[in-house]
Amino acid sequence: MKAVFGLAIIVDGTLVFNARDPVVLEEKAVAAAELLRQGKLVAFPTETVYGLGASVRDERAVSRIFEVKGRPVDNPLIVHLSDISELPGLARNIPAEAWTLARRFWPGPLTLVLEKQPWVPGVVTGGLDSVAVRVPDHPVALALLRAAELPVAAPSANISGRPSPTTAEHVLADLAGRISAVLDGGPCDIGVESTVLDIRGGRLRILRPGSITPQEIAGLLQRKCEIAELSADKNPPSPGLKYRHYAPRAPLYLFLGEPGKVTVKMQEELETWLSRGKKAGLLVTLESAKAFSGYRNVELIVPGSRDDPAAIAARLYAALREFDARRVDVILAEGCSPKGAGLALLNRLQKTAGENIVQVE
Ligand code: TXA
Ligand code: MG
Repeated sequence: MKAVFGLAIIVDGTLVFNARDPVVLEEKAVAAAELLRQGKLVAFPTETVYGLGASVRDERAVSRIFEVKGRPVDNPLIVHLSDISELPGLARNIPAEAWTLARRFWPGPLTLVLEKQPWVPGVVTGGLDSVAVRVPDHPVALALLRAAELPVAAPSANISGRPSPTTAEHVLADLAGRISAVLDGGPCDIGVESTVLDIRGGRLRILRPGSITPQEIAGLLQRKCEIAELSADKNPPSPGLKYRHYAPRAPLYLFLGEPGKVTVKMQEELETWLSRGKKAGLLVTLESAKAFSGYRNVELIVPGSRDDPAAIAARLYAALREFDARRVDVILAEGCSPKGAGLALLNRLQKTAGENIVQVE
């Protein structure tokens, strides 16, 4: 159900502000910021994915985030700031290297895990004594944060376990009627979540890879940047790592190895699924797409070239949702090398696949 309501339309009870036009952005950001100040939940675009925001100062509002997403309460949220100067309000004992990173990469897709200020509520940090903070690089997010004059806790604006949203339509598909508003800023550029870096007490450890690579961080600080063991175990460094993620409805099988051999193995597996009468979704690079034309009962999505993992990452979550819409029974996905931007893409593919990883020898 849609209805016109001043600056927004209403979709199933959620206000949708079209914030794509910079000329009208300001008044819409002010209206959405007022909702945040009233303790309501507002989704907004960032350069990575859409976030679901609540005021850090309002514990009830933050609790509502966990309720509407179905998110485990021990999985902490990232606090979003409009400017680097607000950092000491949230974090203490900030190392000099954190400032160096923030000055270089903010606004941008780098989240820093630091010691929290005592006032930051445990509901935001999953009961930890650390807090994750970033300044997003998106005009709509920044307009909202500036108008709200509040730190805003925001996880990705999806139902927990589903692919993160990269458009306002994805947000509405998961959360319409359960949140007050969404600012529609169009599709997100990067499409995978920020790099999460723990920089407390001399550490330099990536807890979640993103588009800012360990090489960039190490290069700036002139020392080695660790990457945490990213598989789920009993005591992961970042609580979010132990949950299955980014999952479409159909199981996804991820094929890793030398590209030529991967293509052959994927064709074999595809034919097996098709012979059982199943409908298959295929996620393959431009380079191998030709090998998969001419099959029937196949939905083919070609997100980009093997040489451009960032472009593939930008389209990944939309592709997973598209496979759901096309009602495939199984998804076969081509892997990538973990070099540069490939690290974050491979991590998300692995988390989506869970145990369904086929290492082709
Ligand atoms: O790009 C992004 O980071 C997006 C946009 C909206 O900013 N946000 C996002 O939030 O991806 P979320 O909640 O989906 O993921 C936050 C990740 C989780 O893996 C969580 O466990 C980790 O950050 N995290 C948050 N606070 C932490 C802390 N204090 N220590 C360790 N990990 C933390
Ligand atoms: Mg998330």
